[in-house]
Amino acid sequence: MMKAVILVGGEGTRLRPISLMMPKPVVPVLNVPMMFYILEWLKKHGVDEAIMVACYLPHILNQVLKNSYKGMKIKYIYEDAPLGTGGAIKRAQPYMKGTTVVINGDVVTDFNITKMLKFHKESKSRATVGLYPVQNYSSFGVVDTGLNGSIKRFLEKPSREEVGTEKAYINAGIYLLEPEVLDIMEKGRKYSVERDVFPEFIGNGFFGFKQEYIYWLDMGTPERLRKFSTDIMEGNYPLNLSENEKFLKEKGAKVLKPSLIGKGTKLRKNCVIGLLNVIGKKCEIGENSVLENCILFDDVKVGKDCTLKNTIICSGTEIKDNVRLTENSVLGPCSKITQYSKSGA
Ligand code: GDD
Ligand code: MG
Repeated sequence: MMKAVILVGGEGTRLRPISLMMPKPVVPVLNVPMMFYILEWLKKHGVDEAIMVACYLPHILNQVLKNSYKGMKIKYIYEDAPLGTGGAIKRAQPYMKGTTVVINGDVVTDFNITKMLKFHKESKSRATVGLYPVQNYSSFGVVDTGLNGSIKRFLEKPSREEVGTEKAYINAGIYLLEPEVLDIMEKGRKYSVERDVFPEFIGNGFFGFKQEYIYWLDMGTPERLRKFSTDIMEGNYPLNLSENEKFLKEKGAKVLKPSLIGKGTKLRKNCVIGLLNVIGKKCEIGENSVLENCILFDDVKVGKDCTLKNTIICSGTEIKDNVRLTENSVLGPCSKITQYSKSGA
């Protein structure tokens, strides 16, 4: 049994407007909070307690995730002001006991923590970072390791020139830490674990553990949120938490699979829910409207004769009749869209 510290304090600026009224962990993916996928993964690897270090909209986080998930305890630590990834981990130090999993709360993956833990113990590591190879590494931390996996260099958000190769192993946002390694940080101070702390660990029991053929995605942008949703529906992610729920389908309304419709939603006459749509709870899709590859959160109302493609629509939004949105639009919470509005030509 093991504890996991989950960093969830970020404002999710790149996920705006989706993150304006909800923190990232609560953002729905196939109609369940994105954090559920992370908790399922941790549970599979023997984690029985999750400690969320929160800062941005913490009351919403607690309201949605509550104090347990399928038998796993959930605790919350609230920061008054964001102390960076390092400061947040330091805040959780008193709650850690023995080897602890620490993860970035916006990464969805099936990274094998069990194997990583075996490696951690065998190499007598004090801090192990999970590594995953990518081509576009400039928005991540790039990690170079020696033959036995010991970390030689940790470069946060490097340029192509600094790294020099096309592909690199990046910090997957998954760590195994012996709590005492955090002693080098002072309480209450701001630290970036990637920039200020990890470089200090080099040469002192600091290892990287590589995994290649796995699923790994940082869910930090609307595009990547859609990618995760599509990957689950197409079976490219090992877990699907969605359930078929009861909804109303009027005469002539069509639903193509894969798509998901939430409880209490009403599909009016002759509307077409095309491929890869996710529609939240208590939504309404008007007569003759056509949706394709859209994500609608709860309580969204779409009028008649609308065409919506590749659009993400946050809760409480109302779209009037004859609207045409086809250009990867993202509508923020409680938007009001006038009739005949359109994107593109
Ligand atoms: N509690 C708390 N306080 N959490 C924070 C804070 C803070 O001050 N700052 C960031 N976080 C949380 C975010 O909510 C997120 O879950 C996680 O820490 C990482 O922050 P991001 O802002 O998403 O960082 P990033 O994606 O640019 O880069 C990080 O993740 C990459 C992998 O996805 C780095 O760790 C990179 O090295 C790594 O490759
Ligand atoms: Mg991130």
